This record gives sequence, structure tokens and C-alpha cells, in this order.
Amino acid sequence: MNEILHPQINRIESYPTVVDTAKAAAEYISAFIDANPAAAMTFATGETMKPVLGFLGETVLDGQVSLAQIVARHLDEYWPCSPLEEHSFVRYLRERAWTLGISPENTYEINGEAKDPDAEAARYEALLRERPSDLAILGIGPWDIETQTGGHIGFNEAGTPFDCGTHLASLHPSTKRRDREKRGQSTPDCAITQGIANISAAQKIMLVAYGENKGTALGHALYDPISTERPASALRKVGERVTIFLDEAAASAMGQIEWQSASMLV
Ligand code: GLP
Repeated sequence: MNEILHPQINRIESYPTVVDTAKAAAEYISAFIDANPAAAMTFATGETMKPVLGFLGETVLDGQVSLAQIVARHLDEYWPCSPLEEHSFVRYLRERAWTLGISPENTYEINGEAKDPDAEAARYEALLRERPSDLAILGIGPWDIETQTGGHIGFNEAGTPFDCGTHLASLHPSTKRRDREKRGQSTPDCAITQGIANISAAQKIMLVAYGENKGTALGHALYDPISTERPASALRKVGERVTIFLDEAAASAMGQIEWQSASMLV
């Protein structure tokens, strides 16, 4: 493991492979729950989280930790979207996360089928305000070379105000392109997402990223000026609560952005 020092982030760890990174992230979550058995958690979805949830599942099976008492929420869901859709994040969580021994009465899902998405966002916002997350688990959205933008957290795309709570978001064309080209999915134009304010209110925040493209997105968030154009740059404002897990490919791409930003300052 290599530690990467950043002036505003508590800890950044880089590991040789995706597997090592996902294992380290799962161990962090497992240790957190072991210390806080009734923690309120925010789960992320996506490809990044598949191995993390897989390894977390192994620690549950090994009896190292129990998720029976945690309160489980999630970051985002497409809208409109039924849990029967292949791209539904609720479906993803029901298949991969809620099955890890979480009590059904402790799972709080965003209803992508809600007729009134603003009312659904307000319902979720109230729930998160009543009990902010003890641990928020994040991935990061891809970097789009064409538009030189990206790196969403939740579905907070570039330009989203940092003080935004849970809301109905319009997806950036590059996010829709990713869903179409990388995931083979035709997704809706909107999503209900926790806002950056909800994420920032968490006691601990962790972010996991693998590969060059995600490293570039994170590099822009950590080394460009803090700005709503770089949604994950908001994490630097609460950086003492943030831990980042990267594989070597992401770390090296992030290092290149750091170098570019430093050379622009000279
Ligand atoms: C998705 C979701 C996020 C997720 C991120 C990364 O669109 N909005 O919750 O963390 O983008 O996804 P992936 O891990 O599949 O690259």
C-alpha cells in the first residue's frame, strides 16, 4: 500500500490491483460497522462497488461483522425507473447489498417510480436530515475527455451547487453516453440523488476508484481549484473526514493531473 499525501484529505491509499483496493475498502467498511454496529450508511452502486460488496459479503460470512443493525440508505436512483429495470440501482442493491444480512425494515430506498419526483426527493431529504449518514460510501463518475468534465458523486453532475440536498437531477450527456456505450443501457434523462450537502454531512466519507479514467476525474477534483464544475472537489471542504481508496492505475493518472496543475501555477 502507498499513501498519497494531499493537504486537505485525511487519507489516500493506493493499492497495486483492483482486487487489493476493493479488499481494503471492504475491510474499512467492515471495521467501521464493527465499531458502530447500528451505523447509518449510504451505499453507492455501479461497477466499482461490485467487488467491494463481494468482499464485504465474505467478511459477513466469516462472522467478522454483522450488518443486522445498520440503517441502509443509498446515493441515487434513475427516474423514472422501476426496480425491475436492469439499470435500476434499487435492483442492484436488493441483489448485492441488502442481502448481506441487513434487516429489511432498516433499508431505505429511493422510489424511482414515484409520480412526483420532487416529493420523493423531499421525503428522502427529510430522512437524511433526521439522521445524517455515519458513513457515506462513494464511487466517482467518469471523466469525459471530449467535454473535459465529469467526476460526478452520486448523480451530482458538474455545476451542481454544493449546498444542494436530495433532488431530481438531469444527467449530463456524457453520463448518458457512458450508460449507453459502457453499460449497454438506455437510461432515463433524470435521477433522484442525494445532494452534495447530504454527502458532506456524513461523519465519515469514503471514495473508491479504479483505472486511469477515474484517476483523471479524481485528479481534477483534488488538484484543480475547488469549484462546482468539479463536484468531488467539495470533499476537500470536509477532507478531514475523507478516506480514498485507489488502484495504481488511478493513482498514476491522478498524479499526472497533480503535476499538470502544479506546472500551471509556476
Ligand atoms: C454512477 C452513480 C454513482 C456511482 C458512479 C460510478 O452513475 N451515479 O453512484 O458511484 O456513477 O459508477 P461506476 O462504479 O459504475 O463507474
